[in-house]
Amino acid sequence: MKNQNAINLFVLGFGKVGQALVRQILSARDLLNKHGMNLHIVGLSDSRALLYRDEGLTATQIQSALTHKGQGQSLEIMDSTHSVDSIDRLLKPGDILVDTTASPHTTARLLRAVEVGSGIVLANKIPLCGPWAETQKLFTYPNIKYESTVGAGLPVIATLKYLLSTGDSLESIVGCLSGTLGYLCSCLEEGLPYSQAVKDARSLGYTEPDPRQDLSGMDVARKAVILSRTAGIPAELSDLSIEPLYPTELEKVSVEEFLQLADQEDAQYAGLVNWATAEQKAPRYTARITPEGIQVGLDLANKASPLGSLKGPDNYIAFQTNRYSASPLVISGPGAGIEVTAAGVFGDILQLARESHRRS
Ligand SMILES: NC(=O)c1ccc[n+]([C@@H]2O[C@H](COP(=O)([O-])OP(=O)(O)OC[C@H]3O[C@@H](n4cnc5c(N)ncnc54)[C@H](OP(=O)(O)O)[C@@H]3O)[C@@H](O)[C@H]2O)c1
Repeated sequence: MKNQNAINLFVLGFGKVGQALVRQILSARDLLNKHGMNLHIVGLSDSRALLYRDEGLTATQIQSALTHKGQGQSLEIMDSTHSVDSIDRLLKPGDILVDTTASPHTTARLLRAVEVGSGIVLANKIPLCGPWAETQKLFTYPNIKYESTVGAGLPVIATLKYLLSTGDSLESIVGCLSGTLGYLCSCLEEGLPYSQAVKDARSLGYTEPDPRQDLSGMDVARKAVILSRTAGIPAELSDLSIEPLYPTELEKVSVEEFLQLADQEDAQYAGLVNWATAEQKAPRYTARITPEGIQVGLDLANKASPLGSLKGPDNYIAFQTNRYSASPLVISGPGAGIEVTAAGVFGDILQLARESHRRS
């Protein structure tokens, strides 16, 4: 039974993060009810179908959807599903639309949610990095949260917003924003050849099946654009010069060929690391965001500094501001992972739901 304080959720994207989110919501249901918070998952969608029930999906429907996706099937094989596009007409003011896709095609749907007056939560970075003229509406919309897009479950966006809303002014944000590239830099620093470090990162599941997607630096650049725009600096992704960690000659070859040919880069990276070690420095793939612009690429950090002593896939974000001028405000910890990402999305949903209760 729905009560008047119920919040309806549409989860767009039912992959690893979407499924973990739904499991977390189900496990927290008793606790939420105790605090008078009634979240109803009314819609679950993958790329092909929407499972929808106006009164909220039943536990049996949700369990069955999880089982189908766990077996690699589409939701469209389930009974009485709808087209994904029908979300646009089913969304109502006060509902929450959650984007846990990795799709570049959800922007129009999110802008529709803005028009309707629904809440929006994103783990998907791509819609926030489109041309500013189109995306501005998302950044100025009061009912949107996107904490997990940078640093997964770490409170990076919330901290930046708190600093700015209390009148602090930003000098710079310096961050190691990719767990994959953090792992790679640590391996290089320990003397592992570049090609071996890439293969190890891939076999540990730190990279996408095609490691060049991570090595391109695009994911870091997107996070940098989101931070910059959140800070009121409307950077364009297309204006950034992004330093990739592989040569352009290897851009077009197959993944297998890339992995075979990666040892061509070993000598160059070993030379860089040897030089850096002699200078007491360590390679770090960083994003540097200032009011003047964004730089994304390989940097050399003093080994004794917090950035230089970072180990493995942990993220590191340092806010240098008017108040935190002598020493920056630093957030560090695991910046990827399905459960922490889903938890960040869950936290955003709860915050939007609380804000909506307060208004009503
Ligand atoms: N994993 C992490 O550590 C992490 C951290 C921070 C942020 N994120 C972000 O979280 C998001 C989800 O990641 P994931 O690992 O869960 O991805 P995933 O496993 O690939 O799942 C993506 C889901 O989105 C669905 N989808 C694709 N296009 C769609 C569309 N147009 N409309 C509706 N659904 C669509 C897919 O449908 P099918 O099942 O039909 O293919 C799939 O269910 C990504 O944007 C990722 O960058 C992940």
